[in-house]
Amino acid sequence: MANIVLVGAQWGDEGKGKIIDFLTEKSDYVVRFQGGSNAGHTVRVGAERFVLHQIPSGIIRNHIICVIANGVVLDPEELIHEIGNLKKRKIRVDGRLFVSDQAHVIMPYHKLFDRLAEQENEKRKIGTTQRGIGPCYADKAARLGIRVGDFLDIPVFKQRLKQVLDAKNKVLKFIYRHPTLSYTDILKRCLAYRKRLLGYTRNTPQLLHDAVHKRKRILLEGAQGTFLDVDHGTYPYVTSSNSSVGGAITGTGMGLRDVHKVIGVVKAYTTRVGEGPFPTEMEPAMLRKVRDWGEEFGATTGRPRRCGWFDAVLTRQAARVNGLDSIAVTKLDVLDNLKEIKICTTYKYHGRTLRDLPSHVEVLKQCRPVFRTVKGWHSSTSQITKFRDLPKLAQQYLRVLEKLVETPIEIVSVGSSRSQTIVL
Ligand code: GDP
Ligand code: IMO
Ligand code: MG
Repeated sequence: MANIVLVGAQWGDEGKGKIIDFLTEKSDYVVRFQGGSNAGHTVRVGAERFVLHQIPSGIIRNHIICVIANGVVLDPEELIHEIGNLKKRKIRVDGRLFVSDQAHVIMPYHKLFDRLAEQENEKRKIGTTQRGIGPCYADKAARLGIRVGDFLDIPVFKQRLKQVLDAKNKVLKFIYRHPTLSYTDILKRCLAYRKRLLGYTRNTPQLLHDAVHKRKRILLEGAQGTFLDVDHGTYPYVTSSNSSVGGAITGTGMGLRDVHKVIGVVKAYTTRVGEGPFPTEMEPAMLRKVRDWGEEFGATTGRPRRCGWFDAVLTRQAARVNGLDSIAVTKLDVLDNLKEIKICTTYKYHGRTLRDLPSHVEVLKQCRPVFRTVKGWHSSTSQITKFRDLPKLAQQYLRVLEKLVETPIEIVSVGSSRSQTIVL
């Protein structure tokens, strides 16, 4: 059985949680490999709705082992809260969730620096989730990070925290003119987290190597989306990790040969949260309708999502960057009421036609979308379970996307429930 990487192929919130939950029926392990509590993955089971932030969406199915791998930045406070919430809802977590000792820890000062950086300069604002993601990955790269494994040896941890906090307090005091943080308070909090998290901590690359050896079926769950990737996204309007396929390798320690398939999740239209260019963004009246029908509000911050038409230039780039084997198209039902639907096929940049995504954000900001307008099917798709039963115009719409993205469609989602899923 294949090990699969599932990534978002737009700007996040493509419906990865729903598709992961669907695929986990035939998986043994689900692994988060990057990002942190900035993610919000929604899974609907019957009348129940779960929003997962750091714990892999596989936790909802009792037979799955869930791994938070080394590439994730872990917020211990949030994780304890998330575990508690799942337990309250009768989801078994202990013995099924393992956290990498190599994962970096989001410390209270990371969240503070995230907030201060965003407040500092309105023009440079990214619109982050303020979960401390950027500052934590920055410390990882600067070799100033604290890892989950550092909690194990208390004297070593105390020394490390002292060194790092001294450096952070200097920045707080002299750059931000902000009150410094107390070593004793942070240490106390960390020792409490330590107690709660020790039982979940593992050498996860080794755990995954064993799983590969035993031919377990592993699903690697991407967070965010390809265009929020720090290398391949619309930099600097990105998150601070590799949310495209490469992150699945460095973020888990699995070998390239141990991954057999890459699936990209795309919405039948496009959304984005936070700042940054968005060539196909809808005009306000249409945006409000689609936001309303698609319930486009952030699963983590509750912010209204920006909505736009399907952008084939963007998604074709995602297919290439990730080497997608197939795509899962979600939220087709959200377009059910439209008489006409637009698809962006190319961009115009100062009179020139661009078929490929420009690499520089300043160029992208000046690109205008070139749309192909197709007729809407104007009927409900949410109860349909077979591709051939979809209205002909909906089938045609999907076939156009497939052709433009140069990747076969494997799954179509027509609602948030498990049963509202069509496999091609
Ligand atoms: P993720 O971050 O990629 O997991 O996506 P989110 O969970 O943040 O946002 C996707 C939202 O769309 C969630 O509220 C899902 O329940 C919902 N959703 C997923 N697939 C479909 C679908 O096919 N149709 C509709 N109407 N909603 C969907
Ligand atoms: P899921 O996994 C949508 C966006 C933020 C901001 C930028 C940087 O649910 O798809 P960060 O807090 O990561 O430093 O913010 O990235 N962003 C997301 N947008 N879905 C997400 O996750 C996101 N995670 C971060 O809005 O623009
Ligand atoms: Mg989300």
